[in-house]
Amino acid sequence: MISRVRGTEDFLDVTRQNALIKLLTELMHRHNYTEIQLPFLEHTELFARSLGAATDVISKEMYTFQTEGGDSLSLRPEATASTVRAFLENKIDTLPWKVFTHGPMFRHERPQKGRWRQFTQFNIEVIGTEAVAQDAQFVAMLDGFFRTQLKLENFVLRLNWLGTKADRDAYKAILLAYLEPQKTEICATCQKRLTTNTLRIFDCKNEDCQKIYVNAPKLTDALSDASKADWQTLRTTLEMLSVNFIEDPFLVRGLDYYNATVFEFVSTDLGAQNAFCGGGRYELASQLGGNPCPSLGAALGIGRILMMLEGNPHALPLPKETPLNLVLPMTEAQQPLGLFLLASLHRAGLTADILLEKPSLKSMMRKADKLGATHVLILGEDEQKAGTVVIKNMKTGTSETVKQVEAASHCSGHTI
Ligand code: HAM
Repeated sequence: MISRVRGTEDFLDVTRQNALIKLLTELMHRHNYTEIQLPFLEHTELFARSLGAATDVISKEMYTFQTEGGDSLSLRPEATASTVRAFLENKIDTLPWKVFTHGPMFRHERPQKGRWRQFTQFNIEVIGTEAVAQDAQFVAMLDGFFRTQLKLENFVLRLNWLGTKADRDAYKAILLAYLEPQKTEICATCQKRLTTNTLRIFDCKNEDCQKIYVNAPKLTDALSDASKADWQTLRTTLEMLSVNFIEDPFLVRGLDYYNATVFEFVSTDLGAQNAFCGGGRYELASQLGGNPCPSLGAALGIGRILMMLEGNPHALPLPKETPLNLVLPMTEAQQPLGLFLLASLHRAGLTADILLEKPSLKSMMRKADKLGATHVLILGEDEQKAGTVVIKNMKTGTSETVKQVEAASHCSGHTI
């Protein structure tokens, strides 16, 4: 037997996932966003130029292959770079471009609870916006959705401000000076990161490293006056909108394209992989050859949110199950008539199916029970001759013989 690829999942019933996507799509439409669809495959260079060479995603997690023509393509590990590529390639000129998309992303990470190699993100971007108030509105929209609509509990919003590149360069010098005397005490990965991706040292799980970092100078204390003012505006606006957040001066995020606002929604219900939504402000357009275009976005981990909703079955409005009408031809001789009857039920807008594999009433009735049928429509030799059908109501156990032409209206009458 060939098993599925490690870190991937078989979804045998996507009802809950679809219900969540539907709620999110409605939220997006209320906020005037447009749904877009982007390729799963992109040129590797797109991600290499966007996400940062030293990030885990680029250095070791991409599914990359060479085409026969010699192109290097990758399965998308996220959707932001592709959205900006589509923005530039399609010459979008109405700003801000407010768009969303959802679908599978691929990262070759070590699989564990809540972490897959193929996972679904719901990705939202506002391309072409400078206003700090937009950041506040965006975060408030997500917070309100999680809190009020999904009724999620046990989560917090972690917020930080990464300033401009100049702010970060100035801060890096301060941080390196602080770490210099203790450099040999931090782990090998952090030592390497000090030169390749300095701020990511804060993501280290090593307790000895964390003991040193906890007292490190903070980026938010080293910001320019203009950045400090914007950071203050964001926090004040969020407070006005009654959004609770925790300032986390060491939140840096795993992708390198962020400036200014960064945030993550994390839950204590999720275990080690506790972030179920993350995002922030970025400027990728100029990095990809376009004019500078300040932007903002976030992605929600659909699998992780569904895990959080498991204990709360009423949080997602699931579609009402439609009653199932099951046609049971007793022998092969009644099967064509059964198909005819089935078509008449479908024409009447009913949900109906037919059993063609088990030519014994007993086994068919067992199957009907298992399928949760509300009515079974039994067609034997006698019914075939008489132009009738026996309709059994599976809830009440009562049976009635009706004319075949009246079967659909009989079943509709009982199921409305
Ligand atoms: P990210 O933080 O890498 O950001 O991913 C966003 C969310 O996707 C995470 O919070 C998590 O819920 C989910 N996620 C990530 N990796 C996995 C995985 N291996 N298995 C399951 N779920 C996962 C981004 O991807 C950015 N593109 C977000 C963004 C949009 N920033 C600006 N615009």
